[in-house]
Amino acid sequence: MESAKHDLVVIGAGPGGYVAALRAAQLGVNVACIDENEVPGGTCLRVGCIPSKALLESSQRYYEARHTLAAHGVAVADVQLDLPTMQKRKESVVRTLCRGVEGLLKRQNITYYRGRARFDGPGRLIVDGRAEQTALASQYYLIATGSTPATMPGVGLDGQGVGSSTDALAYTEVPRHLVVIGAGYIGLELGSVWSRLGSRVTVIEMLDRLLPGMDGELAGEARRLLERQGLTFWLSTRVNGAYSYEGRCLVECEGRDPLECDRVLLAVGRRPNTDGLGLETIGVRTDQAGFITVDKHFATAAGNVFAIGDCIGGPMLAHKASEEGIACVERLVTGYGRVDYATIPSVVYTHPEIASVGKTEEQLQADDHPYRKGTFPLRANGRARALGEVEGLVKILADQRTDRILGVHILGARAGDMIAEAVAAMECGASAEDLARTCHAHPTLAEAIQEAALAVDGRPLHL
Ligand code: NAI
Repeated sequence: MESAKHDLVVIGAGPGGYVAALRAAQLGVNVACIDENEVPGGTCLRVGCIPSKALLESSQRYYEARHTLAAHGVAVADVQLDLPTMQKRKESVVRTLCRGVEGLLKRQNITYYRGRARFDGPGRLIVDGRAEQTALASQYYLIATGSTPATMPGVGLDGQGVGSSTDALAYTEVPRHLVVIGAGYIGLELGSVWSRLGSRVTVIEMLDRLLPGMDGELAGEARRLLERQGLTFWLSTRVNGAYSYEGRCLVECEGRDPLECDRVLLAVGRRPNTDGLGLETIGVRTDQAGFITVDKHFATAAGNVFAIGDCIGGPMLAHKASEEGIACVERLVTGYGRVDYATIPSVVYTHPEIASVGKTEEQLQADDHPYRKGTFPLRANGRARALGEVEGLVKILADQRTDRILGVHILGARAGDMIAEAVAAMECGASAEDLARTCHAHPTLAEAIQEAALAVDGRPLHL
């Protein structure tokens, strides 16, 4: 068995692990990063954020060519879908980015081990590579092993008829009827992709609303817009089972007749990748759902082992994992590092996009927190009109007494980019009045943020 010694060994090369490794290397640490995949990037780059965004972009172009370009005076005849090319483009985007991360790691002299890592007692980590085993000793270990799609009893994932998001990113044919279980991030994004490409899409959700955790007003409006695009929602409907038979699928729901379809996408959340890591051999504890228990500095019960990202719970977002990775290694090296969980944005890349940071109105009401609210519809924004993207609104929630911004929620074109201004403002402890008095370029969608901030004080100009 080979052996090597490092200062820090990071297990997992997703956006949590590889970013932590990069930051540690910048700080002069001798770092190794382990991943079972040939290239770094993790779920985000390989089978998550990036491929889904590539398909969302391509499918939206196709949809626009068929449905909305004519209104711009662009006549497109005989629009054809070339799904193999669309999938190849997606793969090329993924490949380029993974190779890019590989290059970044090399440039920082980070040793990349390909294989599955497992602890074999304190201070001993074994990497089972394809051909050889390597024992790695290190001063510190950082677990950033991420998550995988959750399964549920009664749903037989066969990767063919009934599959996860990984399968739905790689369909080689457009399903005639796709049933999506779960109206969360994945259900709405991948449901949108296949609906735009021609599938009949039924989304089944056990709650009475879309996107639990997002602001209710925006989720309601998003539902209306997605229904107009052709998606069907069965809300307050719990799925009990789904399976394939003879090339078709059957979905069994509570209180309804079984639903027959061509494909089923199970999107009911994700579970942490903490099995098989040998955590018990080093005394690292997990909770009932398998999430690693850490303190506020990401330390596990084993003193020199830390954990970040999806495998410790909280929002399962790439950027949250990266922030935690940076904070964790900065604290180890410099003695200081923190994550401001109140300002982690979330974005659903439907069309229009839904972006959010801070408290929702429901949370403020539940907390009995007095607030003022300003909203501004994009239909009153000049740029939105010019773009032909007038659906949606900006909503700002501010403390009633201090005017400090507590939450910003945007439904609209490019909301995912627009939310960055709100995040920066909240990071600086800004008030709604600060945003209202910030000069915004005209004509931009971001002017709607300024108008919503003015509306907090009851003085929007264009409403
Ligand atoms: P999710 O937690 O967002 O949504 C799962 C949905 O399934 C919930 O609405 C839940 O009520 C519903 N559900 C659960 N059991 C059900 C049942 N038996 N029958 C019907 N409905 C049921 O999970 P999702 O969409 O799988 O995404 C997983 C994670 O990946 C999320 O936590 C999200 O943070 C992350 N993600 C983030 C994206 C982004 O940032 N744009 C994109 C995709 C995923």
